[in-house]
Amino acid sequence: MEPFLSTKNKKEISIVFILLAILSLLGGILFGSISALQFIIPGFLNNLPFFKCRPLHVGLVVAWIFLSSIGGIYYYLPKYCNLPLFSNRLPKIHFWIFLCTGVVILSCYVVGKFGGREYWEFPPILAIPIVISWILFGINYFKTVFKKVGQWPVYLWMWGTGIFFFLFTFSESYLWLFPYFSDNIARDITIQWKAYGALVGSWNMLVYGTAIFVMERINDDAKIAKSKLAFLMYFLGFTNLLFGWAHHIYIVPSALWIRYFAYAISMTELLILAKLIWNWKASVSEAKKHFHLLSYKFIAASDFWIFINLILALAISIPAINIFSHGTHITVAHAMGSTIGINTMILLASCFFLICDVTKCTFNKIQTKLIVTGFWLMNIFLLIFFSSLLFAGAEKGRLIIEDKLSFQEIMQNISPYLTVFTIAGIIISIGLLLITIPLLKVIVKYLKN
Ligand code: HEM
Repeated sequence: MEPFLSTKNKKEISIVFILLAILSLLGGILFGSISALQFIIPGFLNNLPFFKCRPLHVGLVVAWIFLSSIGGIYYYLPKYCNLPLFSNRLPKIHFWIFLCTGVVILSCYVVGKFGGREYWEFPPILAIPIVISWILFGINYFKTVFKKVGQWPVYLWMWGTGIFFFLFTFSESYLWLFPYFSDNIARDITIQWKAYGALVGSWNMLVYGTAIFVMERINDDAKIAKSKLAFLMYFLGFTNLLFGWAHHIYIVPSALWIRYFAYAISMTELLILAKLIWNWKASVSEAKKHFHLLSYKFIAASDFWIFINLILALAISIPAINIFSHGTHITVAHAMGSTIGINTMILLASCFFLICDVTKCTFNKIQTKLIVTGFWLMNIFLLIFFSSLLFAGAEKGRLIIEDKLSFQEIMQNISPYLTVFTIAGIIISIGLLLITIPLLKVIVKYLKN
């Protein structure tokens, strides 16, 4: 076996990012399942209560999104964009910083050492290595892509924008450390949610860029990534990144037009991505569909989830509904519906493409059957998972506003929905295991040889 992360093999680093990404996803769904069980079995795993399990779950699934996007970018630039990386050492340093900081963050959650805020609940000092790793990633990315002459495909713009704005908004999300911001509640909340909204916008840039890249590769046609529609989507996504946060601050007295503007943009962005995938599906030949069966399936599924999430986003943008839904499980449905249905589907498509390309693996009949079963389990039960969260949220909203029940009474009333949610979530996790175990086996075999 070659030394871990040897310098001889440039490809290896991206696959090690993907390995860590898949392990994070599996850890994430384990803690997600434990958190869900804690909703319905009070006292379940008392040593690891909900307030610790939730950040462990969210932290790990967010790590999955970043690691799989980053691993893809490090591989696709030299291999498919004809752009050798400016440095092959920096990705290795990036990887180790990510891994070590990640382990410290997870340990902090396990021992109950917090100090941060939503999404980044770890002690703020740990933001420093994260910023350093993104600076290294940014230097490597921009020094690499600036060598590209001629028209850039849209995904190069998207990845660059995602990297720059992640760094910017991540830093912004720590402004509360300064009394000027934390001393004024309206200023504090506005900045906080502006930063978080834009953060999601910046990771969407990385993921949607990856979707367009994978579509281009499956079809072996560079037109899609240079099309007007793709660039329109990029500009809308960019505007969304700058202004799309406004719907997060319903409780702050801001001008109404800002919220509607933000909603309209975020929805047109998704509509155009759906349209791009729709057009692409029609243009992929049967032979190519068959050859890239697994990647194709996951991208096609994300199209369905874009529409489902669009409908929900439209509904919760109506102020009368928003009053009910705000802070209930409907918000969780919105967050998980898009991170599982859209982001995870796209990133799994990229993982299949990348892993098969690097290792030249093919899956035998049984493995393919298992993966396809996992795919259907994941999609069917995601629909049930998502719907049960919507029902639980709607009921909770009604009970809070109309019946003014206590938290305990509300949880009792919505427990049938939460039971369905938990069972569906556990089946989604089984589906994800069926999908990812064959991938893990291939990676381990590749790294051993
Ligand atoms: C790819 C898989 C998954 C992703 C990307 C994901 C993502 C997320 C995100 C972003 C949140 C935060 C929501 C918010 O702040 O409103 C969340 C919360 C949560 N997730 Fe997941 N999730 C995944 C799978 C699962 C599974 C399989 C389960 C359970 C069986 C689960 C259970 C939970 C629970 C219980 C919460 C906390 C909800 C609350 O605070 O009320 N997740 N997840």
